[in-house]
Amino acid sequence: MAGDSKSKILFIGGTGYIGKFIVEASAKAGHPTFVLVRESSLSNPAKSSLILGVNFVFGDLYDHQSLVSAIKQVDVVISTLGHLQLADQDKIISAIKEMLGTDVNSQTASKDTSFSCKFYPSEFGNDVDRTHAVEPAKSAFATKANVRRAIEAQEIPFTYVSSNFFAGYFLPNLSQPGATAAPRDRVIILGDGNPKAVFNKEEDIGTYTINSVDDPRTLNKILYIRPPANTLSFNELVTLWEGKIGKTLERIYVPEEQLLKQIEESAPPVNVILSINHSSYVKGDQTNFEIESSFGVEASALYPDVKYTTVDEYLNQFV
Ligand SMILES: NC(=O)c1ccc[n+]([C@@H]2O[C@H](COP(=O)([O-])OP(=O)(O)OC[C@H]3O[C@@H](n4cnc5c(N)ncnc54)[C@H](OP(=O)(O)O)[C@@H]3O)[C@@H](O)[C@H]2O)c1
Repeated sequence: MAGDSKSKILFIGGTGYIGKFIVEASAKAGHPTFVLVRESSLSNPAKSSLILGVNFVFGDLYDHQSLVSAIKQVDVVISTLGHLQLADQDKIISAIKEMLGTDVNSQTASKDTSFSCKFYPSEFGNDVDRTHAVEPAKSAFATKANVRRAIEAQEIPFTYVSSNFFAGYFLPNLSQPGATAAPRDRVIILGDGNPKAVFNKEEDIGTYTINSVDDPRTLNKILYIRPPANTLSFNELVTLWEGKIGKTLERIYVPEEQLLKQIEESAPPVNVILSINHSSYVKGDQTNFEIESSFGVEASALYPDVKYTTVDEYLNQFV
């Protein structure tokens, strides 16, 4: 990054669900913002109309030269690729590595280069190095962990964003399988409902991620988004909801053994969702460890000025 100017950011997967929010935060914060898009996606109006003030760069994860020329223009690469492309992020690592080992101007191999690039791999969930997940979530998390190891092996500067639950995925129906609205009579609670999980609004995940881009405190660290007001047990979540609707719900607790059996017996995507829920709600994997300064930092502590949306506020729209 030159002088005091804001880093230039390239998004790969910027038209995806969480990508859009982070792209918007980047443009709003005044970062020169580039989004790698496949030509086919721009013909889809829902995707092409989404973002003003960003630069589209044509390319494809599977077109090495397009990656190299896009990455050449920026200081930071943020991947928000979806689960099908997670393992193929090695293509981004190779492209960054090629640039890091090359003098950008002369294109000759030289370690004395002005090019540097920080990489955010597609994470935006649980900390994949601190998990007690069972299959199939276990393998999905392992794929993300392998990407971490590849980044570290190539000595590429990084930040891993552990954003925990997207509010928009888990709060509208209070994580009730198959339900389209939050429960009004009975609620299913996995395990004893006591481990704490973390729910963050997508816009806030965008803001925190972008705040971290030029912050040296986040360099080679995991950025955990674990704001205190959004960290609550399932029992607390239900109590909060009951207070809003003025009604006590019947609480049906599903013992862990029963849940594990259910995971084994269900097909995708239900088994994926249930195994992520098991890791987060039953094992408490979003909060069952301390964030130590050797490996991580917490976003709401780093950026106390960000007025994040609390779960309490978020639930009001569903009353
Ligand atoms: N914490 C949570 O609650 C939670 C929930 C869901 C997901 N996540 C995580 O968030 C991350 C992103 O997931 P998501 O659901 O937001 O992703 P998504 O909506 O599936 O978006 C995938 C993106 O990848 C792009 N893409 C696919 N193939 C590509 C290619 N060959 N070249 C370039 N771009 C390509 C897509 O482009 P097109 O628009 O052109 O298709 C799209 O922009 C994942 O790591 C996922 O595990 C977390």
